[in-house]
Amino acid sequence: MLDLSGKVAFVTGAGSVGDDPDATVWGNGKATAVLLARQGAKVYGVDLRQDAADVTKAIIEKEGGVCSTRAVDMTNAADVEAAVADSISQFGGIDILVNNVGGSAPGSAVSMTEEVWDTQIDHNLKTAFLGCKYVIPVMEKQGKGSIINIASIAGLSMSADRAHIAYSTTKLGLFAFSKSIAVTHAKQGIRCNTVVPGLMHTALVEHRLAKTIGANDLQGLIDRRNAQCPTGKMGNAWDIAHAVLFLASDEAGYVSATELVVDGALTASRSSD
Ligand SMILES: NC(=O)c1ccc[n+]([C@@H]2O[C@H](COP(=O)([O-])OP(=O)(O)OC[C@H]3O[C@@H](n4cnc5c(N)ncnc54)[C@H](O)[C@@H]3O)[C@@H](O)[C@H]2O)c1
Repeated sequence: MLDLSGKVAFVTGAGSVGDDPDATVWGNGKATAVLLARQGAKVYGVDLRQDAADVTKAIIEKEGGVCSTRAVDMTNAADVEAAVADSISQFGGIDILVNNVGGSAPGSAVSMTEEVWDTQIDHNLKTAFLGCKYVIPVMEKQGKGSIINIASIAGLSMSADRAHIAYSTTKLGLFAFSKSIAVTHAKQGIRCNTVVPGLMHTALVEHRLAKTIGANDLQGLIDRRNAQCPTGKMGNAWDIAHAVLFLASDEAGYVSATELVVDGALTASRSSD
């Protein structure tokens, strides 16, 4: 079940903020890269920071898996094109593409600067666009491939007290982006789906949000985020990794152009009063 032996996975943002090798709380891309390798895939992990990607590589290799890494800015077309070519020269093809790079910046339509808006579009949409632009031709030649784009429930429901308009807009944009790819390339054996994380306890919470919105009170922030979830607990990066694994696998062979929301019922629970 969910065996990825013989497959190659190209994972973007395969490192994680807070790249301490002994860290136990990981980002979504890091957990995804490790899980896909555990299931037998050879992983080509790219990250803006080579060090962060290499922490993931060391974990995979320690477990007996295969991983190659490269420093890549997923907003830079030449970088992405070169990484895809390198991945093919090392592993012979790409069966799975996980477009995981992304992140939020605070601001409303009024308070957000034009520069932050543009950067958010690049960070959350252009990264997935460039991943697909260079990997889809490889998948077309192979006659098969599975693409998974990582969105967020921030595209489905808005926080009343903390706007991040560009993040919400771009993450919902990924739904249409995935559907367009799925429909356009269905006849070439390519599937494309979106995983939609809810509130997750990832490295981001520990290393960035604790400072930016948590007033340096990490436990207070964790407690507040847990309390918002119907289960009483945030999810974690493994929950996202397992959703990606299913969509990447042959068992999901007839699943395309859809969204898999991984939020412990959070979106459904939000009051419309
Ligand atoms: N953490 C959450 O609670 C949460 C919730 C909803 C959605 N998500 C989404 O999950 C994805 C991963 O989030 P995370 O918090 O696990 O990740 P993260 O912040 O730990 O980042 C993962 C990696 O991406 C790398 N990266 C950043 N910009 C890059 C670029 N231009 N090119 C290449 N690599 C780059 C970083 O160096 C980092 O190592 C994002 O798309 C995010 O929007 C996260």
